[in-house]
Amino acid sequence: MSKIPLPSQVRLSSARELAASARPVGESAPTGSGVSSRLVYSSDSSGEFSASVRSPFEMLVQAAKSVQVAHAAAESVEPSRASEPAPSSRAGAPDSLAHPQRVRELQEGFATLSRPIVLIGPMAAGKTYIGSHLARFYGYEFLDADHVIVERYGEVSDIFEIFGEAHFRDLEYRVIKEVLTSPAYRNTVFSLGGGAPMTDAVAQLLKDEQVVYILVDAATVEPRITGNKSRPLLQPDPVTRWQQIFDRRSARYEELAKFTLDARGGRPISEMTAEIQSFIVNSRKDSNEPA
Ligand code: S3P
Repeated sequence: MSKIPLPSQVRLSSARELAASARPVGESAPTGSGVSSRLVYSSDSSGEFSASVRSPFEMLVQAAKSVQVAHAAAESVEPSRASEPAPSSRAGAPDSLAHPQRVRELQEGFATLSRPIVLIGPMAAGKTYIGSHLARFYGYEFLDADHVIVERYGEVSDIFEIFGEAHFRDLEYRVIKEVLTSPAYRNTVFSLGGGAPMTDAVAQLLKDEQVVYILVDAATVEPRITGNKSRPLLQPDPVTRWQQIFDRRSARYEELAKFTLDARGGRPISEMTAEIQSFIVNSRKDSNEPA
């Protein structure tokens, strides 16, 4: 993701004041079109994040395209490559794939059925990785709460160091609330930082949401966290700290989860995203059936 550089006064002024003047989550500077456009995050196959501005209609067309592209890719994939992520194909999709009827079906589905899909789980569980691929394969938007915080306020480690953890939790809560209470994010996979559900006010927001818990263990995350200084709570001994924190938090994750994805042992991404998608499809079917 191209990070907005942190001007020196941002570091020195209170992030609380900045919160008051910040733009809505995921929204870019005004485009002049009068239409509310959104800053959309995506990642390529190497895991690099990027951001682009899209109007609501473009997002809808894009969603329709990517559903069809994902289906076409799934049908044509060779068995030996079936476990690999689909190639980054959104940009190259021919325009004819955005069939008006499909766009309309998606539009109606937005209005009646959809809620964001919220990914929770411990640090380094792969929430961002799994969430961004889920979005790409099945035609959702993707948003990561930590990325929004970084874009608005600066690096997570700087916020912890300068303002303290309580302040970070406050910013985190506000971002999450803004996303979950806005209709603009109905079709969004929304990934949260590992500690977010421990804030009671966040847990309260999540209790009726489509929450997916990404379950991992220390052996799975060890190579991801060893030597990585980006998570202040894991210093100075990442694996021991990870296990201690996980033991304190796992009950809360379990309590909030509507679906648990077992991501232990580094499973193929296409298999994990397909499992989450089955849960989404089934729960939307259930909620549409008469009681
Ligand atoms: C945290 C997890 C981090 C980030 C911050 C605090 C936590 O996100 O929000 O460092 O308390 O578990 P990830 O779960 O994406 O690492």
